[in-house]
Amino acid sequence: MGRAFVYVILGGGVAAGYAALEFTKRGVSQGELCIISEESVAPYERPALSKGFLLPEARSPLSSFHTCVGDNEERLTLKWYKEHGIELVLGTRIKSADVRRKTLLTAAGETISYKILIIATGARALKLEEFGVSGSDAENVCYLRDYNDANRILNLMQSCAGGNAVVIGGGYIGMECAASLVINKINVTMVFPEAHCMARLFTPKIASYYEDYYKSKGVQFIKGTVLSSFDIDSNGKVTAVNLRDGSQLPADMVVVGIGIRPNTSLFEGQLTLDKGGIKVNGKLQSSNSSVYAVGDVAAFPVKLFGETRRLEHVDSARKTARHAVAAIMEHEKTGEFDYLPFFYSRIFTMSWQFYGDNSGEVVHFGDFSGSTFGAYWVSKGHLVGSFLEGGTKEEYNALAKATRLKPAIEDLAEMERQGLSFALTV
Ligand code: FDA
Ligand code: NAD
Repeated sequence: MGRAFVYVILGGGVAAGYAALEFTKRGVSQGELCIISEESVAPYERPALSKGFLLPEARSPLSSFHTCVGDNEERLTLKWYKEHGIELVLGTRIKSADVRRKTLLTAAGETISYKILIIATGARALKLEEFGVSGSDAENVCYLRDYNDANRILNLMQSCAGGNAVVIGGGYIGMECAASLVINKINVTMVFPEAHCMARLFTPKIASYYEDYYKSKGVQFIKGTVLSSFDIDSNGKVTAVNLRDGSQLPADMVVVGIGIRPNTSLFEGQLTLDKGGIKVNGKLQSSNSSVYAVGDVAAFPVKLFGETRRLEHVDSARKTARHAVAAIMEHEKTGEFDYLPFFYSRIFTMSWQFYGDNSGEVVHFGDFSGSTFGAYWVSKGHLVGSFLEGGTKEEYNALAKATRLKPAIEDLAEMERQGLSFALTV
């Protein structure tokens, strides 16, 4: 026995919320759409978990960041789903999928069938065990992927004010959590294997600006090494972090952000995979025409760069979701997804945005001792990427527009001299 729907969204994260809104805008009927989520809360804007949700004063509660506030749209509460006749199946893990039979099996043994499936399963945090270190289960070791994780961090932070936190990883989670921990009056040491923070995106010069700022707030950096083990007391609490370089750091809490893996396992052997995700075409349709994939789990063609990419950012989750629904509801009228990659972060009082691709030669511009600076990436004679810290809305828009146009660049020195004006006048 089980339930049957026309449309099923598997996963209840960012992409699911934006897809649901798009379905209602395009006229889905009551009872046709179902969202299945392992989480026990309605879809929300995941980025808030490492920002407003962790701030000691004026903390943003979950109710303020349900999707789709991130795009200045309605906040989709439980009531909204009910009013629109959308079945929200929360706290439910799908344990297997059969794309030939068009069925999903829940962990409790219910079969849910669909005519069209949207896979929006996102990703899971990589565990230390996958790098040969044990201790993830310790009471004061945290990861940050979902609302439960964020609540754990919040509780631990409150119990160790004035104490020491070790942050493992120098990527997005590491940087954003380190800032939140400092704001919560905790002493922070960051440990990561690379030579500088945000190594996947930042140049050494950009990284050094943020590292200097973090140091001015008391954060210590230990670079070029990784942890080898934890000291754990008889209560199951980590008391110290041992590093491969032989040093030891006392710890009241540990936050780990060492990357993610897309949740593809239900579909391995059934759908074509690429770049660690589910390969889709320009309509976000997988190798099975009844199955679409969106968000972190989707590897889609980025027309601008002529290649397939899997992006791990909220803007692409929102836009792939909306495009997939457009393609499902109006297949012939919907064109190929044409996306300009966009990432951003907000830390302390700083805020940056990045558009495009960080490949090729780099041209830095602006005042790296002030509050507004940036960089352009030029590959094969064309602008392909741009970064700006501390810009205005108009400046960010100009950066996006210029990057999408991919203008030919003949003189890098002239581009450096023009700096931000270059983007504003393209
Ligand atoms: P998402 O992870 O949001 O949702 C996946 C859903 O699927 C979850 O609800 C999960 O429980 C469910 N699921 C998975 N397997 C399931 C199964 N078998 N059965 C049932 N349910 C299942 N990006 C950015 O551009 N700027 C930012 O500032 C931030 N900040 C940020 C902070 C933090 C703390 C995180 C963790 C991430 C960010 N991101 C970000 C990244 C951004 O949040 C991310 O790209 C989107 O959430 C991706 O949306 P999806 O819907 O694809 O996955
Ligand atoms: P990440 O890929 O940004 O960074 C992973 C970091 O792990 C690397 O920078 C490296 O320093 C570190 N690392 C790798 N192996 C290690 C090891 N063995 N020991 C110690 N450190 C090691 O991933 P993340 O920071 O975990 O973020 C998870 C996901 O959340 C990403 O998809 C990211 O895009 C998303 N996110 C995005 C934002 C944003 O866009 N502002 C904010 C938070 C999270």
